[in-house]
Amino acid sequence: MATLQIRGPVRLSGELTIHGAKNSTLPLMAAALLCQGPTVLHNCPKLSDVDVSVRILRGLGCRVKREGASVWIDPVPADGFEIPDTLMREMRSSIVFLGAILAKMGKAVLSFPGGCELGPRPIDLHLSALRKLGAEICEDYGCLTCTVTGRLHGAPISLTFPSVGATENILLAAATAEGLTVITNAAREPEICDLADFLNSCGAKIHGAGESTIVIQGVDSLSGCDHKVIPDRIVAATYLCAAAITGGSILLHGVEPSHLTPMIPIFEECGCILETDKDMVWLKAPRRLSRVTGIRTMPYPGFPTDAQPPVMAMLSIASGTSMFVENIFESRYKHVGELLRLGANIKVEGRVAVIEGVSRLTGASVEAPDLRGGAALVVAGLAAHGSTSVSGLRHIDRGYESIENNLIQLGADIRRVYS
Ligand code: UD1
Repeated sequence: MATLQIRGPVRLSGELTIHGAKNSTLPLMAAALLCQGPTVLHNCPKLSDVDVSVRILRGLGCRVKREGASVWIDPVPADGFEIPDTLMREMRSSIVFLGAILAKMGKAVLSFPGGCELGPRPIDLHLSALRKLGAEICEDYGCLTCTVTGRLHGAPISLTFPSVGATENILLAAATAEGLTVITNAAREPEICDLADFLNSCGAKIHGAGESTIVIQGVDSLSGCDHKVIPDRIVAATYLCAAAITGGSILLHGVEPSHLTPMIPIFEECGCILETDKDMVWLKAPRRLSRVTGIRTMPYPGFPTDAQPPVMAMLSIASGTSMFVENIFESRYKHVGELLRLGANIKVEGRVAVIEGVSRLTGASVEAPDLRGGAALVVAGLAAHGSTSVSGLRHIDRGYESIENNLIQLGADIRRVYS
């Protein structure tokens, strides 16, 4: 078993380059399947979720090669339509392949994603949208069999919630469907824009990505293209939290500052000074952070649910009382119990978490409950006095490339230990 052993507190300072967004890379890899020729995705992070996506594409018959941060995908030989249960279980978000497989093969068979670390993971919005586009879907004993006679057809689709994954699946299915699809109440996350930009570079006709209404005029075919994945805004936010909780300073390169706008006011409210430039953000933290009165997680451009755990860790030693309302996932406070072990004072009632800032955290053994919850524990461990041991690294490795090496570069005392 591997653990991260952290000795704190250490004031972080230095520079880092942020890798490409996991949540963009996965749908982009699914989109590559739709093309008639090879695609090269640049700025692809080296993460276990990306490895799972490579295995899914290979399982479908694609040829896939990785060279450094670039992944080359040739979908021409692909003729598969099934994702094995083992891969679905390894990465519940593999549901984003459904729209692409269905559009390309006319059939898709995969297991139902079921529950995950964040609670139940319903896909009703994905399925009802695909049905509107002409798919027949049979749900049987946890297995989904989707078929389409002929070609998918465009349709008006109104989402009752702006689901990121459902919007992506609709874009993937509708890009080559016959006729016009109009999505209302679409998700507006930057990853949706990245997917639409990629598809448009391949010849798709998608307008309005980043807004609530997206119009897709289906085209007959898509070519492959070269595309650079957008930077990971949640990884950037995590390193900002790490610098802030240690009273340090950090310069991040390779970021898209506009994607950080929902989070920057929170750091400023804590007393941090931030400056942004073209693809950079600089943060300098005060000696002690101040509380933040209320943070509500919301769909973009609201405060992202994925940043809630590391920001909560940061606020655990701020002066005063901070509060979160988690509006996106019902089981997204699993890191709280672990933060309590480090000495934090946090109370959770339903969707609300109240954080009474303590003057210091103390090192302890903690376990990452999920991806971002794990990152929160690393952030807290950097500020905790003494040794913190973080286990459950398989979660953290899903979303953070070389987390310990990056933190060492910033001056942290952290190492990965195998026992
Ligand atoms: C994506 C991100 C995840 C992020 C989330 C919200 C990826 C791989 N993952 O997840 O990191 O936390 O967006 O920003 O991009 N819902 C339904 N029915 C559905 C679909 C969703 O009820 O068919 C609900 C979910 O249970 C959840 C909410 O909608 O409560 C948001 O989910 P969604 O936006 O779909 O998140 P994901 O795409 O799964």
